[in-house]
Amino acid sequence: MKLAIAKLEEWMRLYYHNVDHDIGSSGVRDLTIDELRTICGFDLSELGSMIFHDSECFGGGALRAALADRWTGGDVDGVMVTHGSSEAIYIVMHTLLDPGDEVIVVDPAYQQLYDIAAGMGCRITPWPLRAQDGFSADLPLLRKLASTGPKMIVVNFPHNPTGVSITREQQQELIDIAAEAGAWLVWDHAFGELTYTADPLPLPFGRYDKCITFGTFSKSYGLAGLRVGWCLAPPGLLSRMAVLRDYIALYVSPVLEFFAEKAVRNADRIVAMQREHAHGNLRLLRDWAAELPDLVRVNPPDGGVTAFVEFPGHPDATAVCRRLAERDRVLLVPGECFGDAFTGYARLGFGGTTAELTAGLSSVRRALLEGVPVSEAR
Ligand SMILES: Cc1ncc(COP(=O)(O)O)c(C=O)c1O
Repeated sequence: MKLAIAKLEEWMRLYYHNVDHDIGSSGVRDLTIDELRTICGFDLSELGSMIFHDSECFGGGALRAALADRWTGGDVDGVMVTHGSSEAIYIVMHTLLDPGDEVIVVDPAYQQLYDIAAGMGCRITPWPLRAQDGFSADLPLLRKLASTGPKMIVVNFPHNPTGVSITREQQQELIDIAAEAGAWLVWDHAFGELTYTADPLPLPFGRYDKCITFGTFSKSYGLAGLRVGWCLAPPGLLSRMAVLRDYIALYVSPVLEFFAEKAVRNADRIVAMQREHAHGNLRLLRDWAAELPDLVRVNPPDGGVTAFVEFPGHPDATAVCRRLAERDRVLLVPGECFGDAFTGYARLGFGGTTAELTAGLSSVRRALLEGVPVSEAR
């Protein structure tokens, strides 16, 4: 297997810990342990009696039950706890796919959603979200693409990096398309709980038997450092995934599962707080962009905490991102991390603190103004 370099993670390795203002990440403001404790109403002394015992391959009982209560109507057999959804993505692809299989993947996309399969020798068919259509999902096109009988269809709504989503009707159509093709439907739910223009979509769980869902504590909850995620899949598939997992990480630490379980049991409160904060920041981002129509184009997101922005007059967005990171210590993410066709874009994350967003946006504005004639400066 020949894996391509994970460009987004490589960029983060270079700059994430070496900037002052992060307006590139895809998560909401990270919580402190004290904040989590206060929101969820638990005491750290509860940890004192915990034995450093192994957890279970599919997840410790308490966390698995909490996830099942939230997402599967209590069916624990369909839940696996993983090290971030990244581990789930890796294991699912390796369990289900063989070289030569066709995989349809939304494009642009978080690289792991297509390049693990590509590295395994699968044929990747992009399902493009087109800029000229505001990156909206073209279901008739997907239906046409899926007529070849792909092994898997991989989607992520609300979508990273554009923030676009689909309607409930479109989601049902998507499930129908996968079912008609007999394809596995991979539903990456990383940002599913953070929506602005409509209620969160229900999970496809239970509506089609070849459906897999990934979820994570890294995005909507502000618990990126937990490195905990989850996967919903038919129990038979989870058992096959366990075979591979036995060679990787075995299980998730019970210490992490302790915090994750508290978070799931109080998810509505955490998400409501984070959503309100992110929505306020989104308004700020829109106002900022509206003041700079010649310099910035933003397609307003339906959910998540990222927007895919263009800088008219600066077709090399990677150069803009690099200059901002290295000179101004501001983090954006180059669009090319989501596919070679997106060199004119940057991912702008608005989930962090408002102070950070304000400071970051003013650096971006300054950097862009430096490149345009003085007459256009405001
Ligand atoms: C769409 C999507 N899925 C999955 C992941 C993996 O996140 P984690 O491993 O932190 O759960 C990311 C991370 O950015 C993502 O954007």
